[in-house]
Amino acid sequence: MTDFTIRKARESDLDEIMRIENACFGSDAWSVQNMRDELIGEQRFYVVAHARGSADKLIAYAGLAISSATSQGDIQTIAVSENSRGQGLGRALMNSLLAEAQSKSLTEVFLEVRADNQKAEALYRSLGFEQIDVRKRYYQPDDVDALVMRLTLASSLSAEPLVLGIESSCDETGIGIVRGNTLLANVISSSMQLHARFGGVVPEVAARAHLEALRPTMQEALSEAKVSLSEIDAIAVTNGPGLAGALMVGIGAAKALAISLDKPIYAVNHLVGHVGVDVLERGTLETPTIALLVSGGHTSLLLVRDLINDVELLGETIDDAAGEAFDKVSRLLGLGYPGGPEIDRAAEGGNPQALRFPRALTLPKDMDKHRYDFSFSGLKTAVARHVEVAQAKIEAGEAAEFSVADVAASFREAVVDVLIGKAINACVDHGVMRLLLGGGVVANRRLRELAQQRCDEKGIELRIPALSLCTDNGAMIAALGAQLIMAGRSPSSLNFGADSTLSVTTVQSP
Ligand code: KG4
Ligand code: ZN
Repeated sequence: MTDFTIRKARESDLDEIMRIENACFGSDAWSVQNMRDELIGEQRFYVVAHARGSADKLIAYAGLAISSATSQGDIQTIAVSENSRGQGLGRALMNSLLAEAQSKSLTEVFLEVRADNQKAEALYRSLGFEQIDVRKRYYQPDDVDALVMRLTLASSLSAEPLVLGIESSCDETGIGIVRGNTLLANVISSSMQLHARFGGVVPEVAARAHLEALRPTMQEALSEAKVSLSEIDAIAVTNGPGLAGALMVGIGAAKALAISLDKPIYAVNHLVGHVGVDVLERGTLETPTIALLVSGGHTSLLLVRDLINDVELLGETIDDAAGEAFDKVSRLLGLGYPGGPEIDRAAEGGNPQALRFPRALTLPKDMDKHRYDFSFSGLKTAVARHVEVAQAKIEAGEAAEFSVADVAASFREAVVDVLIGKAINACVDHGVMRLLLGGGVVANRRLRELAQQRCDEKGIELRIPALSLCTDNGAMIAALGAQLIMAGRSPSSLNFGADSTLSVTTVQSP
């Protein structure tokens, strides 16, 4: 038995490879030019074998073509010199190619074999390949069929990947760590207080705060999860939508980690992250589902048929986000920031029917174009007008104090009524009797109450994840990364950038 060595092929092996190629395949042999292109080609992996001690005389070679984009591989060729056959060389070469396929996270490897080469076919079957097709009379002039065979690989990462997720799209620096669908850590550092005196998030301030918060937040998450960085299987990061400068900080950190740890990176969509977070509580996301995402930065209504393959944007705000409306109205009522909790508190004891504020885009004429869209800037203006008029009356001595509680309660009712009304319409219209809520505004008491009430009336199942998972966080990003890995998705390349208007249909950037 020959004691042999297998190593990666080099261009200088070309002559030796051609000698074997010609001897094995005769008139069917590839040309020198073809073989050179293969050896030096990108997305190719060739190995050669030689007997131990005679490195300059090759006895076998094999090659794999790799398509990272589709996570598929193709065995291009395999040849063993005649007098080295029957010694396990074919199997050893195949194992080297399959190890490479595994390390590139390929999910399928294909090959073709002559129907009359039963030894080779038996070898491939023993490696797990199955016949999926026949190409009739493929090998000429012998008129022999080709069997097309496929091996399905369990990605080495796919079982229960340990994923670190980085979120920095707005004012929360979030680091989450998950193992598969299990939450290990969810640490958030918010720069909210730095924005308080401006009444809204200031992008430059947020970006700077992310930079300062990232390291300590990550350290805390690692120690909470009781894992070390070297154990992490993959990094996931939000690359949009969000504030460009803020996103860039998280993306920079994620890429640096991926490079230094030599780990795959997944660039994921923030909004889809809000939906996917449900797997951390229920182990799975039940689909199809309608999702209503409401925060300081977004107000989106989604139809999710499949978390990683089929997310559709039904509608979104055409001006202010719902949370932003709370923040702005809070400010004009002389209350603090963030506005949501302040308005909730002020509305306590107020009469939600006291004032009839407008419900934008709910009239029959809006239903064609904006059935699932939202608009809150008119509502904010209406509140401002009301406050102005009331104050003028007080100053003119025509009225006593106006009720902040009534204004807050009526404003809140208008926002919540439209949000829930449109979400319920989306469920009914699409026959999807599930509604998932996400985003910071979900903390709103009246929103939760009305959502439950209207869902009960229609027989719609309502899902509200824990508040710590509803507000922006890194765990939802890690969870979405893990979902992608478990579905066999290839990592993103390092070329992706921040995309502040990333479409919800792009779950993962390439
Ligand atoms: O998801 P989130 O933490 O992320 C950002 O958008 O940054 O949401 C924050 C938003 C703020 O606009 C805040 O006013 C709003 O969520 N919010 C609320 C409540 N608590 C927070 N809105 C209404 N009612 C609340 N109780
Ligand atoms: Zn968000």
